[in-house]
Amino acid sequence: MQTRMTAPREAPATDIGLDAVRLHRVDKVFAAARRGAAPVTALQSVSLRAAPGEIVAVVGPSGCGKTTLLELVCGLIEPDAGTVEAQPAALMAQRDLLLPWAGAADNAALALRVNGVDRSEARERATALLHDFGLQGFERARPHELSGGMRQRVAFARTLLSGRTILCLDEPFAGLDALTRQEMQDWLAGALLAQPRTVVLVTHDVEEAIVLADRLLVMSPRPGRVVASLDVDVARPRRRTDSALVALREHALRELRA
Ligand SMILES: Nc1ncnc2c1ncn2[C@@H]1O[C@H](COP(=O)(O)OP(=O)(O)OP(=O)(O)O)[C@@H](O)[C@H]1O
Ligand SMILES: [Mg+2]
Repeated sequence: MQTRMTAPREAPATDIGLDAVRLHRVDKVFAAARRGAAPVTALQSVSLRAAPGEIVAVVGPSGCGKTTLLELVCGLIEPDAGTVEAQPAALMAQRDLLLPWAGAADNAALALRVNGVDRSEARERATALLHDFGLQGFERARPHELSGGMRQRVAFARTLLSGRTILCLDEPFAGLDALTRQEMQDWLAGALLAQPRTVVLVTHDVEEAIVLADRLLVMSPRPGRVVASLDVDVARPRRRTDSALVALREHALRELRA
């Protein structure tokens, strides 16, 4: 467990009660990049909690501070006001950031290598996970030889292998066509059902949020504030056509447009 803002990043564990993530009234302001430009208030008084094993989705318009929120949870940046407390969190970035010259297993193994695991053990563990993810036969394939959905699976494997408690997923399927995106959403729902994790999922796609999440936060345009919190109290596996999900989607879309 890490406490940030007043403590250094590698601070010893502190007790944040029963939550895995707790942001309390966080502001984030980016200084003006050029002389004469105004500072940008990305987030304003944002509070967010995730219980262990909970999947919290965050939806909001472009530029409302969603990536900023995940960077705060992962300790990559500090808030200007409020507090951020979180167990160690790994970020699956908005772009997949795979190394173009490395094969799928070595790309997935990167987080293990960074943690000091030796090459053959890292490759072995990554390969086993890639097999679980339906990528057998592609262990040595470079990113350009993989489809968008396959690349996302490699990036997700790498995020899982970081060993961090919390997964922060930033628009994990945004670049994919509609059909592949649905397949990947169903795949991720299955993967998280088999191996529950605390997840903060950022997306533009309200349906994606509702299919995957236990709770959905809707953000306003910048400066990003949380304007609604909806519980998705629907059993898994979920069907997109389930009337409760359809009603929730409409509710969330109304909040987004408001
Ligand atoms: N490092 C930075 N320096 C300056 N401004 C930044 C920085 N990072 C983000 N911003 C600004 O903060 C605001 C929020 O950016 P952020 O990337 O969090 O939005 P987002 O909701 O993830 O958008 P999108 O949906 O397009 O990915 C934007 O106005 C952006 O220009
Ligand atoms: Mg973003």
